[in-house]
Amino acid sequence: MSSSTTLAAQARGYAKAARTLEDDNNLKNARELYLKAAKLYNEASKIASDKTDSNTQRDLAEHLLNKAQSLKSTGVQQSGSGVSSEGRGGSDTDESSLSKDDLILKEIPNIGFDDIGGLESVKEEIRKAIIYPFTHKDLYKMYGQKAGEGILLYGPPGCGKTMMAKAAARECGADFISVKTSSIVSKWVGASEKNIKQVFETARQSEKTIVFFDEIDSIAGRRSESEDYAKRVVNELLAQMDGVDTADDELLILAATNEPWTIDPALRRPGRFSKLVYIPEPDLDARAAIFKINMKGRPIAADVDVNRLAGMTDSYSGADISAICKEAADIPLGEALRGGTPRKIEDRDFIKVLEGRKPSILSWYVEARREVKKSGEEAVFDGIMG
Ligand SMILES: Nc1ncnc2c1ncn2[C@@H]1O[C@H](COP(=O)(O)OP(=O)(O)OP(=O)(O)O)[C@@H](O)[C@H]1O
Ligand SMILES: [Mg+2]
Repeated sequence: MSSSTTLAAQARGYAKAARTLEDDNNLKNARELYLKAAKLYNEASKIASDKTDSNTQRDLAEHLLNKAQSLKSTGVQQSGSGVSSEGRGGSDTDESSLSKDDLILKEIPNIGFDDIGGLESVKEEIRKAIIYPFTHKDLYKMYGQKAGEGILLYGPPGCGKTMMAKAAARECGADFISVKTSSIVSKWVGASEKNIKQVFETARQSEKTIVFFDEIDSIAGRRSESEDYAKRVVNELLAQMDGVDTADDELLILAATNEPWTIDPALRRPGRFSKLVYIPEPDLDARAAIFKINMKGRPIAADVDVNRLAGMTDSYSGADISAICKEAADIPLGEALRGGTPRKIEDRDFIKVLEGRKPSILSWYVEARREVKKSGEEAVFDGIMG
């Protein structure tokens, strides 16, 4: 059984391949891969247990579907801007901005630092960078420290970036606005930068807010390699971030990505996403903690040794471990449903699941190291290089 994270990772791969094909003007195959990616994101979104993840994936699916359709229309008509004519719905530019609900999801996060296994040094870094500037505003002001530069969380998939962003908002009692990143560029390409503006305008209306751009790579690619509309999106993002004064706005910008090397370097200058926080794969202790978190509320037999399981799951992500626990629980549940006597989840159940499941993040490291080397930014993304 595939987890939502695994499907999303596959979808990302297809989307990337589709982009390469599109660049090579191989539009027919590009379109097919965009459709495949959209389908996988859609499936991922259906089984995602997390609402934010599910929304992001659904939006990405929609974005890629639109992309595939626009390729179809450019293929048939002339090769133009890549915008499907039916998507425009008239010439009025105002019509093309999306509504607030299309762009953001405002929620009160239900995840705290206690729900995140390990990552203790990251939590401390987040406290300093995000929580104290909110909770000790006067002290920061007194010492003339400008708080609240944007923060970019980066690292392998399924290791807690989205969780960490939510937990940060909850720990400092801020509203959490997660931006449906893909909606920004999905429907009416011309209005993308307006959408960015609207996100910031909405955020400024709240008292104390963390704005979270998940999967920011989908809107903030290097401008030298981007199409016109994508350049305008990045420019608008830069302009808006330059205009954020946390002291007055009580606004903090967070973003996350698995592909930090694709982000336009201008977004990393002071005042923007100047702080990069690496969210690594879980170490031995963190894996034990994640197992414990996922065993809470489930009947676990005495022969289950969390430390041993942690030792057996080197290079597995937090999402992998969470899926392992779920699948292990499915075994006695299935037996009971078929009429067996309900029993606890035993060591053999975990072992059986582990035997059929490979760690998901090794391939990410291979690609990440290659890409970071290629971009010559080993010192910037030292977390990845190890
Ligand atoms: N440190 C952790 N502690 C507890 N659970 C974790 C941890 N890391 C990951 N998980 C589990 O994995 C799931 C995915 O985590 P999360 O969404 O934060 O990963 P991510 O880094 O944002 O991944 P992606 O890059 O794919 O978006 C969580 O819902 C949780 O079940
Ligand atoms: Mg995430």
